Amino acid sequence: MSDFVQRPGALEHTHCTAEQYRRLYQNSLADPDRFWLDQAGRLDWFVAPRTGGNWSYDPVEIKWFEDGTTNLCHNAVDRHLNARGDQPAIIFEPDDPASPSRTLSYAQLFVEVIQMANALKAIGVRRGDRVTIYMPNIVEGVTAMLACARIGAIHSVVFGGFSPEALAGRLTDCDSRFIVTADQAVRGTKPVPLKANVDAALEREGVNVESVLVIRHTGADITMAEGRDHWFHAVASDDDVPCEPMAAEDPLFILYTSGSTGKPKGVLHTTGGYGVWAATTFHYIFDYRQGETYWCTADIGWVTGHSYIVYGPLMNGATSLVFEGVPNHPDFGRFWDVVDKHQVNILYTAPTAIRALMREGDQFVTSRSRASLRLLGSVGEPINPEAWRWYYEVVGESRCPIIDTWWQTETGGCMITTLPGAHDMKPGSAGLPMFGVRPELVDAEGGVLEGEAEGNLCITASWPGQARSVYGDHERFVQTYFSTYPGKYFTGDGCRRDSDGYYWITGRVDDVINVSGHRMGTAEVESALVLHDKVAEAAVVGYPHDIKGQGIYCYVTLNAGEDGSEALEAELRQHVRREIGPIATPDRIQFTDGLPKTRSGKIMRRILRKVAEDDYGSLGDTSTLADPSLVERLIAGRRDS
Ligand code: WT7
Repeated sequence: MSDFVQRPGALEHTHCTAEQYRRLYQNSLADPDRFWLDQAGRLDWFVAPRTGGNWSYDPVEIKWFEDGTTNLCHNAVDRHLNARGDQPAIIFEPDDPASPSRTLSYAQLFVEVIQMANALKAIGVRRGDRVTIYMPNIVEGVTAMLACARIGAIHSVVFGGFSPEALAGRLTDCDSRFIVTADQAVRGTKPVPLKANVDAALEREGVNVESVLVIRHTGADITMAEGRDHWFHAVASDDDVPCEPMAAEDPLFILYTSGSTGKPKGVLHTTGGYGVWAATTFHYIFDYRQGETYWCTADIGWVTGHSYIVYGPLMNGATSLVFEGVPNHPDFGRFWDVVDKHQVNILYTAPTAIRALMREGDQFVTSRSRASLRLLGSVGEPINPEAWRWYYEVVGESRCPIIDTWWQTETGGCMITTLPGAHDMKPGSAGLPMFGVRPELVDAEGGVLEGEAEGNLCITASWPGQARSVYGDHERFVQTYFSTYPGKYFTGDGCRRDSDGYYWITGRVDDVINVSGHRMGTAEVESALVLHDKVAEAAVVGYPHDIKGQGIYCYVTLNAGEDGSEALEAELRQHVRREIGPIATPDRIQFTDGLPKTRSGKIMRRILRKVAEDDYGSLGDTSTLADPSLVERLIAGRRDS
């Protein structure tokens, strides 16, 4: 078909050809247990599993490899010591290009993980404890995760851009009594006061933290609370710390993610299935070859960092680059400087970064060599064909295949993508299902759509990397993902399948928006807004944004006697940043005297979305509104703003 872009250099790829994909995919559906028990052989196990999947979507109970015992830190670090102890495991590139980068061999990574494990034990962490990691994107963030895995503690990484308030919520939700943090983070020369944020979070009610482990990173002046706060370098030691044997279904980590309600959910992943999924998908999708350098530009605060900076690459014995900085510091050529400096072969980044760089013109790219690049990846949101073409033609000079990987925090790893040596690509389409993935498109009533169709994307059979629960609230897990279409996992995404069987994600169909690849519940921003004492009511929707993909559009009604001014707008923006973090900063705030509601009081978000999109031709039926005249005022307000 004409919309295909042929995979370049296809014959060089060895990990999976088109024929192998067909066979493996077929096998994975025909006999999933056998297929996944085979793949489980990618990991070392203390006790090898004999059981594959044991799951049900009604009632919801998901287990994989339940009779197996393993440890993912062993798989990511220790097991490589004999064969590739001297090979680079991690290359660290700091925010400031003038500061030295660091390369850690697997043997050195082992030493640093052991030191971190000792430090965790010294501050009182034991198997099963939740450890909150609130860190810059630096080596110690990675070793903190691995050290938790090593001693059987459950990590909960909270992105360093979140506010004290957001951090406090995530600490209380999983009753985390331990924090690993740094004095400061720095991104594009801008300091982020991590330790001060921790101090503020610990003032909040319900937070019950015993010990804080602090890594000295920038050397900034911070306060240490006697007895509670411990410098890493003061408590770390080199004593032997063996890997705890973990049952496959023992929790590995919690990662908070936004949904349709105001409160983020603690998505829970367990050890064996997640490990096998991360290892297998990394192997096939990134087509990694020994000796290559792989760079995922994500932050360890997101699931992309968990699966494809830390666990996937390291379990495969790869060299994974960890980047502390941002794409535009010191200039918009930084990505390509890093690529040249470290001879990066595989690059995995997000459409929002691609669009931001594209806007600055080709010269930032073409002035750098990029000759080392072999494969390019995209993740986090739909990539528009224009950005795809630029990534393909300008960055990759039409010689690097692009993988557009669709997945979610809840899926543990990539679910839909083309494989670089197997499939031709289509700009804007994620492509085909990974092994064991059974996508299904359904209509609003749950009717299954066959062939070429557009509908809501469900997955009808479990896969090893699937989240097992929402931490502490299994009922919420069931409600959120398995109640809309009983017996199926509902992704929350809309999707089209074309006549070649390629999947095109069209975006969220729930009240979740995707801002610069960051998932945000509109309800979260609303809750933050109404906490302001001048705000009566707020409704938040997404609208198309050139760089961010979606921007945050807020409709705000004020308390009687308050007037919407530019000053108040700025104040509300600040207020949301303080409550959630800079990633939730509203792009537009429109003051309104009311929100469009049905007579039963339900906000008609459809209308708010259309107005925010500047699309008034298709407002649909507004006759059920309690106050139909409000629509005109909303439109007038949009035009003025
Ligand atoms: C949501 C999940 C996947 C790890 C990072 C985000 C959107 C993700 C793609 C893609 C179109 C994508 C979906 C999904 N999304 N990747 N390649 N094409 N949309 O994880 O924060 O859990 O967000 O991101 O809407 O549901 P997340």
